[in-house]
Amino acid sequence: MMPKVFITRAIAPSALSRIETVCEVDLWDGEMPPPYSILCDRVRGVDGLFSMITDRIDAGVYEAAGASLKVVSNMAVGYNNIDVAAAQARGIAIGNTPGVLTDATADLTLALLLAAARRIVEGVEYVRAGEWRTWHPNLLAGRDLNGATLGIVGFGRIGRAVAHRAQAFGLRILAYSPSLTDEEAARFSVTPASIETILSEADFVSLHCPLTPETRHLIDAQALTQMKDDAILINTSRGPVVDQAALYAALKEGRIGGAALDVTDPEPMPDDDPLLLLPNVIVIPHLGSATTQTREKMALMAADNLIAGVTGQPLPNAVTT
Ligand code: DGY
Repeated sequence: MMPKVFITRAIAPSALSRIETVCEVDLWDGEMPPPYSILCDRVRGVDGLFSMITDRIDAGVYEAAGASLKVVSNMAVGYNNIDVAAAQARGIAIGNTPGVLTDATADLTLALLLAAARRIVEGVEYVRAGEWRTWHPNLLAGRDLNGATLGIVGFGRIGRAVAHRAQAFGLRILAYSPSLTDEEAARFSVTPASIETILSEADFVSLHCPLTPETRHLIDAQALTQMKDDAILINTSRGPVVDQAALYAALKEGRIGGAALDVTDPEPMPDDDPLLLLPNVIVIPHLGSATTQTREKMALMAADNLIAGVTGQPLPNAVTT
């Protein structure tokens, strides 16, 4: 008998057919994620669960699945949607997809940095609103990148890929990671710095840390007061790393220069969120890894984790913490 798996969203056909060669598949192909009660219903008796960051995977899900559940394969590098400790207590393996989305996410970070520095979104809105009458020396003047300082908070794969790209634009890079050694910093041509130094010296601050109890609201009211009054905050990590109410206050009062957010708290951002009314704020809907090629690679990697888990093999990419 084939192992049974539940997949919580339509995935790349290549990944689906790879799974179907080994497993009996139940697939939720709704536009919205399966509601929690339906998720619990559909996992009953499955051997494997293929999940997304939009699915809350907790003890209730493991309980509903029962003893047959061997693996949860998350199609993401982040796994803050999953109760890993509760899974480990039950011997359920957790898989994620590191590496394959590094370039796409770093590209998007640079796109946001450039868009904010050069006021691209304001420019598009200006033209669409029929306001473009003439060239003017001060029209939508933005910021130079060359010679400016970029502070990278979280210097893992994505932070490093951002540094590599940013160096081509002449940005000086300050980097913080709890484990960053001087030798590593030299290898990536960045200056190791504390978060405090980054906040006080950087013209652009870009967040690349995972969401953990320690990083929740890392950028709070106090951190925002340390930033330069024209600094731009870029977040492509997880929304709750930033205290969004404090961010709104800092922007509204002109205490920082702008923000470009790929991730928000909550997601989706409510339509009436006051941040959306500020011209110096860019918000996009969690698109860090959203290229067709990258999403296929993520799906294939998650498929391999799922198949390994349901067939009793070690996961190629297991979450171990
Ligand atoms: C991830 O993989 O963690 C991203 O946030 C979703 O692409």
